[in-house]
Amino acid sequence: MAGEYGSDDGVIATNDDATSCKACAVSLGYWKDPYLACFLPSGPDRRPPEINRGFYCRTQAIYLLVQKFIQVNKGECQVVNLGAGFDTMFWRLKSSGDTPVRFVELDFPEVTAKKTHYIQRSKPLLQAISHDDYDVKLNRSNLHAFKYKLMGADLRVLPEVEAKLEESDIDYSLPTVFVAECVLVYMCTTKSSELLKWIAKKFKSAFFINYEMVNLGDRFGEVMLSNLRSRHCDLHGAAACATLLSQQERFVSEGWAGAEAADMMSVWERLPRSDVARVIKLEMLDENELLTQLFTHYCITMAWTDTRWTDITL
Ligand SMILES: C[S@@+](CC[C@H](N)C(=O)[O-])C[C@H]1O[C@@H](n2cnc3c(N)ncnc32)[C@H](O)[C@@H]1O
Repeated sequence: MAGEYGSDDGVIATNDDATSCKACAVSLGYWKDPYLACFLPSGPDRRPPEINRGFYCRTQAIYLLVQKFIQVNKGECQVVNLGAGFDTMFWRLKSSGDTPVRFVELDFPEVTAKKTHYIQRSKPLLQAISHDDYDVKLNRSNLHAFKYKLMGADLRVLPEVEAKLEESDIDYSLPTVFVAECVLVYMCTTKSSELLKWIAKKFKSAFFINYEMVNLGDRFGEVMLSNLRSRHCDLHGAAACATLLSQQERFVSEGWAGAEAADMMSVWERLPRSDVARVIKLEMLDENELLTQLFTHYCITMAWTDTRWTDITL
């Protein structure tokens, strides 16, 4: 697709890569996700152990944080997944009994159209979003179910984001957790800042979980950047990923009350120990250097507009 911002094909393709990586880790037993295979009929490609551990760490951490937010609010809250791709969090939360009032996913219409297609074809996916008193309404790239809403929108275009959230019956007064898993980095910082500022202003009580790169200025970071560029995927938002401090400041400077960023090394150390002990036995690592490099070049930033959410940590 070539629009006002040039072609987004490279960025859209990152979803196929993320889905295939997650599916590989799931197939090896890193975590349970019976839904992901519905979005990847061809099955996953094998990935190196470091990549599998990296995906385990990111997926578990984000899931645990969202689950805590829902539990603290006794379900009286909303989840908005920005650039959700083929993520299956709604279905995993539903099967553990932790559903919010509303779960909205936004991505480019090209991606949501494909996701809509896969959902329509899959009995387990459809069953989980269905409700006796609510017909699932869908068109090519949007799907409205009882709690689950999938909407096509370009996150760089605020009026589009706002219109799609309103079409999803969003309630600006309910506590809302936003998730962006490897998404903001593909937008220029002017656009991601506008989005963060708008959320802080519009929602009465917001919490944000942002997963993406950090420490991009060193040699390893430069290699990551050039690898992505060679796949026609520029990281227009790389400036915000310079350090943990810059990741925090992007929120605070746009009106968020506070933010805390941690690299994936320290996130890994905070994950439930018994599960980590299980996972490290799944595949041997020849040495730890590559994993350490990966873990120190990705981070999770949590930001809040409401100090009630400062207790939501790993
Ligand atoms: C690396 S994938 C991650 C997908 C999912 N969050 C995950 O972690 O599995 C990045 C996703 O962000 C989406 N994305 C990036 N920029 C976007 C934009 N401006 N508007 C809507 N979606 C965007 C892409 O289409 C893609 O699905």
